[in-house]
Amino acid sequence: MLRIENVSVSFGGKAALDRLALEIAAGEVVSVLGPSGSGKSTLLRVVAGLQPPDSGRVLLDGEDLVSVPAHRRGIGLVFQDHALFHHRDVWGNVGFGLRMRGDSRQEIERRARYCLDLVGLAGYERRSILTLSGGEQQRVALARALAPEPRVLLLDEPLGSLDRRLRDRLLEDLAKIFDELRVTALHVTHDRAEAFALGDRVAVMRAGRIVQVGTPDELWARPADEDTARFLGLNVRDGTAVRPEAITVRPVAPDQGGDGVVRRAVRQGPTVKLEIELNSGETLEAVVAALAHPAPGDRVQIEVDEHGVSELSVEGPKALHGFDR
Ligand SMILES: Nc1ncnc2c1ncn2[C@@H]1O[C@H](COP(=O)(O)OP(=O)(O)OP(=O)(O)O)[C@@H](O)[C@H]1O
Ligand SMILES: [Mg+2]
Repeated sequence: MLRIENVSVSFGGKAALDRLALEIAAGEVVSVLGPSGSGKSTLLRVVAGLQPPDSGRVLLDGEDLVSVPAHRRGIGLVFQDHALFHHRDVWGNVGFGLRMRGDSRQEIERRARYCLDLVGLAGYERRSILTLSGGEQQRVALARALAPEPRVLLLDEPLGSLDRRLRDRLLEDLAKIFDELRVTALHVTHDRAEAFALGDRVAVMRAGRIVQVGTPDELWARPADEDTARFLGLNVRDGTAVRPEAITVRPVAPDQGGDGVVRRAVRQGPTVKLEIELNSGETLEAVVAALAHPAPGDRVQIEVDEHGVSELSVEGPKALHGFDR
């Protein structure tokens, strides 16, 4: 188990991490989801041993890591920019950690082959890194990180530089690999879809703190506060979060009034996102599945399913649990 205890880090008097606390169980993948500048990379650097905390501790299976140097922590790293060795081929990269710790030739062979297979790159052993696509490079980075069987895997926006289709495929592959290996992993991203796809639990981060932790379904059903609700893509209305899929939208004749007008309709695969301007001037987002959906300019009537509404805490990030309806 990885336990991050009240870790603080400041740069020039400004807090990047502010008494941050988080626990990751053995075999669990936790995704930290936060906006740019919220301290995600700093958090991973502290866990990896690349950034000493001003205060607080990081414990791995009960052992305080603070005095353990980075290369002895048993931590695997995958970063957005790969950081692969460009002068070595795929095999040289994947076997690197194993050679560094003096594994036998046979063991390196076995382990490197297993990991290349795992990421779908069997047969790529002798390819130069420079000839690989971005997605392939990211798979090599993953194989290299997994090869020494790290106790914890850290991933910093691992799919950030890839195009959407490739991201979606790699996301699925990553989730399968994590399942199969029962990896303990801490993954950070600013992308909701990525966090929801990879994390057994998702920790929402803001301004150097974790403000809410839960499964993707828990967060979606009950975001703790307004900022979190908005960041996740929920509507905020009168101190409540309203889920876009809980809103039924019916077209009405132009002379019948209705509750508002559709401003935008964007297909997102199987569903369509509607941006509705209510008569009050408020904007509401609804998600509908019908092929015959209202179009921009249509006047509509809306109905909100009460099960799709949850109270928000007005006290902000500190009140994590006191919002039962
Ligand atoms: N070495 C450093 N020196 C000074 N300030 C730093 C340093 N590293 C990070 N910071 C500051 O700490 C804050 C958090 O940075 P961090 O890189 O952890 O954010 P992030 O959540 O990873 O953002 P992004 O999503 O853009 O990668 C930022 O305000 C950043 O400018
Ligand atoms: Mg970052």
